[in-house]
Amino acid sequence: MSKDKVKTVFFCTQCGYESPKWMGQCPGCKEWNTFKEGLNEKQSRHEGRTLRTGIENARIVPVPNVEIRKEDKIKTNIGELDRVLGGGIVWGSLTLIGGDPGIGKSTLLLQVCKALGDAGKDVLYISGEESLGQIKMRADRIGTFTENVKLYCETCLDDVKEVIEERKPDVVVIDSIQTMYLEEIGSAPGSVAQVREATGVLMKLAKVLGVSVFIVGHVTKDGNVAGPKMLEHMVDTVLYFEGDRHASYRILRGVKNRFGSTNEIGVFEMQNQGLVEVANPSEFMLSGRPLNTGGCVVSCSMEGSRPIFIEIQALVTPTNFGIPRRQSTGVDYNRVNLLMAVLEKKIGLPLGNCDAYVNVAGGIKVSEPAVDLGLVMAIVSSFHNKPISEDTTVFGEVGLSGEVRAIAQAQSRVSEAAKLGFKKCILPASCRKTINDSAGMELVYIDNIKDLKL
Ligand code: TYD
Ligand code: MG
Repeated sequence: MSKDKVKTVFFCTQCGYESPKWMGQCPGCKEWNTFKEGLNEKQSRHEGRTLRTGIENARIVPVPNVEIRKEDKIKTNIGELDRVLGGGIVWGSLTLIGGDPGIGKSTLLLQVCKALGDAGKDVLYISGEESLGQIKMRADRIGTFTENVKLYCETCLDDVKEVIEERKPDVVVIDSIQTMYLEEIGSAPGSVAQVREATGVLMKLAKVLGVSVFIVGHVTKDGNVAGPKMLEHMVDTVLYFEGDRHASYRILRGVKNRFGSTNEIGVFEMQNQGLVEVANPSEFMLSGRPLNTGGCVVSCSMEGSRPIFIEIQALVTPTNFGIPRRQSTGVDYNRVNLLMAVLEKKIGLPLGNCDAYVNVAGGIKVSEPAVDLGLVMAIVSSFHNKPISEDTTVFGEVGLSGEVRAIAQAQSRVSEAAKLGFKKCILPASCRKTINDSAGMELVYIDNIKDLKL
């Protein structure tokens, strides 16, 4: 009896905290109801040991003597993806691609397979979700594949492992990690234990054989990859697909990257023949925006190395019921509330009895504080129902006392705005010394939101 008890381990699906018994609240991350039954202790110790042998096998080498393959990164020739990956796929790396169902994960990876196959790489696409026929149908829409790309439908990871060890392809795609299972683990595919162990096995394969592996991960309702949070810690690179499923474009965001910078984004448009790169995302984001309408402002957010221009929309209306309603899409809800409080206190805008809805058009999520001033202007403009000229763009961080604070890379934002045809730019006064070329734009520097004139 007691022996059996020790065998079962429960761990938290959020942070990976392990406990011999189930608990309602995780002592590690304080989340409720996240404990799942998992692998028994004996097996996990066994797994740990096999991993360690892998490390022992690798010899200890002085840094200058480390040999790397001639090309250190494999270019996919899909520019937007290469940018997010930091120049290409690193040999022996493990990359996780997450995103909502139907957003285009399988499509993108099949396109990557095609591009790599065309470049003479040996690629193996392993699907546990679709049949050969279904993948072929998708492949036909994308284009003509070479024989370098091989398909394999399998969900048993033990078999997959053998195949990879035998064939040693250059790149392997696993679609998706939630469908894979290891026989020695009792629980169902997609369970925390399976996902964790399966990723461990793939990681070892990638590092030992030098095979680059892509895994598709499903996303839960709150936007995390389904399975333990530590999945993200295990892999080298984490990419998320975001965007409005009803709109045609998709944004691929690098959330973690051991080999390059994060926060780079790649923009794609879903067309009949698959995902097509969007070379100028700002033009795309701003296309079809309403002109001369109150509550609409164009602001700029740095996404990695690129300034992206976005349209912020606000709708402020009198509250019908007692408690004002606030809603935000694409920007942090708390940030919107904070800025509304600043507006109320510092310029006396009576927002206390107004509903406010704020939206970033196009389904992109922005988190840079530089869009604060855009949010503020959109709210003020909607409140007074006064439009802001369509050739004006705004950026700056807003502090709690209403001061407009400096932001990074003001010059590259101004230059990009000029390229997009904007005529006027409202920006923080403290950015004045960093701007040496106004690129023919009218620059309006402000210190405090009190100085804002609509
Ligand atoms: P898919 O790659 O299957 O999504 P995921 O693997 O993330 O679940 O994306 C499928 C969606 O993309 C589906 O709604 C159909 C659409 N699609 C196109 O519009 N054009 C295409 O050429 C392809 C292959 C798919
Ligand atoms: Mg899919």
